[in-house]
Amino acid sequence: MAVLQVQPARLRGRLRPPGDKSISHRAVLVGALASGVTVARNFLEAEDTLRSVDCVRALGVPVELEGGTLRVHGRSRWSEPGRVLDVGNSGTTIRLLCGLVSGQPVEAVLDGDASLRRRPMDRVVEPLRRMGADIQARDGRFAPVRVRGGTLRPARHELPLASAQVKSALLLAGLYAEGWTVVVEPAASRDHTERLLGAMGVPVETRPLEGGGVEAGVEGPARPEAVELQVPGDFSSAAFFVAGAAAQAGAELVVEHVGLNATRTGLLEVLREMGAEVRVEDLREVAGEPTGTLLVRGRQLRGVQVGGALIPRLIDEIPALAVAAALAEGETVVRDAAELRVKESDRIRTVVRALRAVGVDAEELPDGMVIRGGKIRGGEVDPEGDHRVAMAFGVAGLLSRDGVRVVGSECAAVSFPRFERWLRVLAAR
Ligand code: S3P
Repeated sequence: MAVLQVQPARLRGRLRPPGDKSISHRAVLVGALASGVTVARNFLEAEDTLRSVDCVRALGVPVELEGGTLRVHGRSRWSEPGRVLDVGNSGTTIRLLCGLVSGQPVEAVLDGDASLRRRPMDRVVEPLRRMGADIQARDGRFAPVRVRGGTLRPARHELPLASAQVKSALLLAGLYAEGWTVVVEPAASRDHTERLLGAMGVPVETRPLEGGGVEAGVEGPARPEAVELQVPGDFSSAAFFVAGAAAQAGAELVVEHVGLNATRTGLLEVLREMGAEVRVEDLREVAGEPTGTLLVRGRQLRGVQVGGALIPRLIDEIPALAVAAALAEGETVVRDAAELRVKESDRIRTVVRALRAVGVDAEELPDGMVIRGGKIRGGEVDPEGDHRVAMAFGVAGLLSRDGVRVVGSECAAVSFPRFERWLRVLAAR
């Protein structure tokens, strides 16, 4: 097991984050069905996204990956994989593939690592069955999941909670069904699938609903047309450094070519409410996704209350936010985030334990956490194999008094293989 030892240091410099994980998954998974060759530059080569590449290849779709450029030679009909599709740690791979394989003339078993096997799959299995899919999960809820592809019918789905993975699985299944497949969410989750399908010529409609919900629909049958895209930098990977720099007096950070899709950037709103100095420059659309530069200057932050419809827009950034909150003055309360309990780890438990391990007063709530900020003493953290917790506490080391040891830090490679290198580059002693 790798141990990352991080000494206190000030954050300074320019970060160019790796390609966006969500968009990279979608480029390969949707590209696999498209007519023509989909090209994605700055494709994220990390454990999770390489699982998507591997699964698609096993389904008979040729994929080339060279120097950060992905080329997917889409096929309208996939072939029998002849082996279990191993998605590793990747919830996005398994859930989106459940939707895509449901309409293919193949039978596939999808499985993953111990963490993935604990995560709920009934949230995609049940609505896909309503579309006529033949799909079974272990105990009705967990991976492995067996899919026997066949004919699908359209449906209107009202999701009990906002989830981009579930929404995406259903919209992708809707590509095979005749008529409109519609997904209603109680709050907006990331909309990369809708944007990509739209760019690939699929009839997609989205509209906000009264009371904060959103509705997204696709009209099938529709086959996406290949596109060329430039994957923006991953806001979620940048977030560890952005939150750390915002909270550290004297820090200065520039983040270049980072994705700034509003369904992802809730963290910036929260940091500003905490008193942070964060500016956006050069905002423009690149391949249908807002992209720009972030400028962060560190200062003393104050605690904040976070909850409601904002949660889906910063769900993956809560470990990073928790570290900023640990250094902020006063109390930070996160609520309405019970979903964190079924991420790569139970992130409410893992983050609160890690905060305590570095000397921060924190406690769990059923749907969030309370953090009483002030200072980060330092100590040893076990992220329990959760990449985002490992990286958040790597940055906590820079902000700490005595330094932080992250045990099992190799899990960062799930989404950000060069995290440790960037940590060294941006730490000015
Ligand atoms: C993702 C959606 C989110 C997020 C996950 C990636 C995606 O999960 O937490 O890391 O790429 O669609 P939800 O399905 O809960 O929104």
